[in-house]
Amino acid sequence: MALDGTYDREVLALDPTPVETERLRLRLFEEGDAHAMWLMLSNPNVMRFIPRPAGTDEAEEKQAFLKGLKEGRFKFFYAVTWKSSQHGTDETALGWVLMRPTPDGRFVEVGYWFREEYWGMGLATEAGRAAIEAARKTMGFPDHDLFAYVLRGNEPSRNVLRKLGLEHRQDAVIDGDEVWELYGPGAEIYEETVRFIHKQPETIPVEG
Ligand SMILES: CC(C)(COP(=O)(O)OP(=O)(O)OC[C@H]1O[C@@H](n2cnc3c(N)ncnc32)[C@H](O)[C@@H]1OP(=O)(O)O)[C@@H](O)C(=O)NCCC(=O)NCCS
Repeated sequence: MALDGTYDREVLALDPTPVETERLRLRLFEEGDAHAMWLMLSNPNVMRFIPRPAGTDEAEEKQAFLKGLKEGRFKFFYAVTWKSSQHGTDETALGWVLMRPTPDGRFVEVGYWFREEYWGMGLATEAGRAAIEAARKTMGFPDHDLFAYVLRGNEPSRNVLRKLGLEHRQDAVIDGDEVWELYGPGAEIYEETVRFIHKQPETIPVEG
């Protein structure tokens, strides 16, 4: 971290050493994860609160993933698998967790997607906790620099964020009438995060 409290985003990355939790293993993405990515991207339920349409062309989506992997676009992602066959025999990644610094390197975004058949088992919470812990060690960011944003209505994701200790702080209307909820432990981050999401959004106060 620099003296002014910012990070050099170019040198930041997740620790390549896999992280293990009670049931899960978090590791960097590999080429073999193209299929897991396709399973999530092509499922309209997974994509319901994601600002891009569900994928329809398997070859194209897999190729885009592999290209992104080569270009280093996934260096802030952990693929999540079962830790061992005792926990589950599915060897395809179950989902992913993201710990991505903002372009100025001052804040770190947490995010996650899981395959629909594994929802409601506490996996996003378990993986999210471990990813935050691991990224905190390598990126050295303090708690108040963590943030997330969620499209209004995404109750499962809101629940995960609360369990990870992030609170709903502010809403923003971005690109039309969809309301994004901004989460984090520190109000001071929002101007920065909103700018990160969109250049000049219209912000609205949190109800209640
Ligand atoms: C968001 C997501 C990752 C959650 O994964 P998960 O492994 O099911 O999450 P967890 O089991 O750890 O926790 C989900 C919580 O939401 C609750 N929940 C699930 N469905 C719900 C619903 N429809 N309404 C309200 N709460 C719901 C669960 O009960 C659980 O809370 P609890 O532990 O207090 O019971 C998963 O739903 C997903 O992949 N969604 C699609 C991608 C996405 O939207 N990602 C987030 C973008 S911001």
